[in-house]
Amino acid sequence: MPHSTSAAMKLPAFFEDERLAVDAALERLLPQASARPALIHQAMRYSVFAGGKRIRPILCLETARIFAPDVTSALHPACAIEMIHTYSLIHDDLPALDNDDLRRGKPTCHKKFGEAIAILAGDALLTLAFETISATPVPPVQCVAMVKEVATAAGTINGMVGGQVADLEAERQRIEPEMLEYIHRSKTAALIRAAVTAGALCAGAGSDDVARLRRFGETIGWAFQVTDDILDVEESSAALGKTAGKDIAQQKATYPAIHGLQRSHEIANDLAGKAIAELAPYREGASRLCEIAEYLVIRRT
Ligand code: IPE
Ligand code: IPE
Ligand code: MG
Ligand code: MG
Ligand code: MG
Repeated sequence: MPHSTSAAMKLPAFFEDERLAVDAALERLLPQASARPALIHQAMRYSVFAGGKRIRPILCLETARIFAPDVTSALHPACAIEMIHTYSLIHDDLPALDNDDLRRGKPTCHKKFGEAIAILAGDALLTLAFETISATPVPPVQCVAMVKEVATAAGTINGMVGGQVADLEAERQRIEPEMLEYIHRSKTAALIRAAVTAGALCAGAGSDDVARLRRFGETIGWAFQVTDDILDVEESSAALGKTAGKDIAQQKATYPAIHGLQRSHEIANDLAGKAIAELAPYREGASRLCEIAEYLVIRRT
């Protein structure tokens, strides 16, 4: 397991172009900071452009690339999911949830703008996300399928909000591994699954491919949250851009807390292997998607 090599700490270089394309599209899609009422637009932009890794949009674009060389239209669902992800981080950091001061290397949204504006910035990003998906230049049937996929993933039944509720309820509790799995698959894997699946739907993939890629997304998303738990223990706040060691302090239900660090690394690697195996039928067509999946469990940030 590489722990400090610079190669493992950064995304492979060719994803940099994709990150830049996503940032440029987000720049176009978010209201100007001067648009009335300026404060909410400043807060939305502050959190979106604070410096996320853009993993979810990159997964969306790379999945679309398996089926279509031009992935421009997939920038819509890709950016929409980054908006929902950013909203989830803003709300996750609120005093009533994880109560965090540091996010993406900067003061959290509520520290900078106050709680009321942070709550509303989250709400606004969620709403803008669906406006953005509905404007994707693909046939309406594909748009509707993406909206359903993303809405379900962000919701309460095996989705992000449901997982966040269970995460809060599990604080300071002894929980079973099955419950831990439910929390991680809901709060994090669901949205990553939606990013992958929306990329496939946007590119017009058939139902067998969509189902296969949905399984890939769910499994790599699960591995991603196990790795997030590991990094909270193993890395510094400076490296992560968010408060390290917080899960233990808040007695969160995490993989290291329940399974130990070594077993958690094994679980993350096994899940990534299982996810990558789903990509076998695409051979070279999925080589970049495969590479990003590998990165997601060796990353150090
Ligand atoms: C952090 O996600 C929150 C989780 C769901 C684990 P990321 O690690 O993708 O955060 P950013 O977008 O790079 O800030
Ligand atoms: C967050 O899980 C999952 C979300 C839906 C935001 P965490 O609470 O572990 O995320 P971090 O560690 O604060 O980024
Ligand atoms: Mg949390
Ligand atoms: Mg948190
Ligand atoms: Mg965490």
